[in-house]
Amino acid sequence: MEPVFDELKRYIDWSGDDEAALRALHPHAAPHFARIAESFYARILQHDGAREALIGGESRVGQLKVSLINWMDRLLSGPWNEDYFELRCRIGRVHVRIALPQHYMFGAMNVLRRELNEIVDAEFLQDPTALRHGRRAVGRILDLELAIMLHTYREDLIAQQARTERLATFGQLIGSIGHELRNPLAVIESSLYILDQRVGSDERAKKHVGRIGEQLGIANGIITALLDMIRDRPLVREEIRLDNTFASVLAALSTATRVQVTGVDTLPPVDGDAKQIRQVFLNLVDNAIHAAGADGEVRIDGRVDGAVVEIAIEDTGPGVDPETRRRLFEPLITTKVQGIGLGLALVKRIIVRHGGDVAYAPRAGGGARFVVRLPIGPVHA
Ligand code: HEM
Repeated sequence: MEPVFDELKRYIDWSGDDEAALRALHPHAAPHFARIAESFYARILQHDGAREALIGGESRVGQLKVSLINWMDRLLSGPWNEDYFELRCRIGRVHVRIALPQHYMFGAMNVLRRELNEIVDAEFLQDPTALRHGRRAVGRILDLELAIMLHTYREDLIAQQARTERLATFGQLIGSIGHELRNPLAVIESSLYILDQRVGSDERAKKHVGRIGEQLGIANGIITALLDMIRDRPLVREEIRLDNTFASVLAALSTATRVQVTGVDTLPPVDGDAKQIRQVFLNLVDNAIHAAGADGEVRIDGRVDGAVVEIAIEDTGPGVDPETRRRLFEPLITTKVQGIGLGLALVKRIIVRHGGDVAYAPRAGGGARFVVRLPIGPVHA
């Protein structure tokens, strides 16, 4: 099969003339690389959405400018071979990993295109042939660069589809295992009940019966979460007052972490399945408390945004690393030592069924911030 890079070059009629034109441009452009890198990142920082993608903050820009100068150096000096393609794919995957929205690539490339074309225009003003070749070569190589970037996003999409398919098969499997395990667990539970009546005053035996009961509860909880993930329980709709929901959630979570709740008691009621919505906030608040640790803080803040109720749950823990962030709401993704990674997948599923959405963003000043949005009006599931 023809390598992707060769195919792309063939598509745009890439030739030795383009390579020669870029090499001819290199010595003229090199003195401008640092300035171009400056304006490249200045543009990103001026743009709200693009700036947000620069996770880690502006402190990284210095290091990124050096990367961009090396990138321009190779752009104009070649060789434009398989190594070049692989190197560019690796850079593309860095952007995919930080979930940089693809469309910013076009804006960013436009800045580079303009800068390089201006150099071509200025340097080859007196030589129309060199000028034409230079402009054509710059256009071609930058389009190749964009094509490679999109190629890496596509690679990621294909991998994601494969993961979804695997999960569908896996879902059927856990569904049947879950059902099969319910019966033996029910038998253990009823036998345990009988044993519990008979242990009498044997304290050690009592303790062990208690432990078995606790562990049974955990096993049943895992199975319920697994089954909830793969089947959609019908929503039992009612009017939900979220202040009641949070009161019940906080009562269920014994914690040393400071949890501050604001704005929730004045929210209008939402329409939905009270049990499932409680589950959503129980998972999110429980996660936040775990992440924050005993010395940290959790904040729950509610507000109305048009026809939507918005609840932000923030913690002062370590936050979520960029790699995990992209797949945070997929099943089996967890950062907890003892988690199986169903909590957030379930949150997402329930919220979407209620016509809302949930998103993660790093908290300003460090930590995690989850925002749940739920429509105020009636739900049509
Ligand atoms: C023409 C478009 C772009 C080019 C040529 C480019 C080039 C590069 C290069 C060469 C690296 C270093 C990769 C490595 O570690 O080996 C990099 C990393 C990075 N780029 Fe870009 N970039 C482009 C667009 C953008 C845009 C638009 C943003 C943000 C809005 C961005 C944000 C980043 C960040 C945050 C990293 C570091 C990621 C990490 O190491 O975790 N890039 N880029």
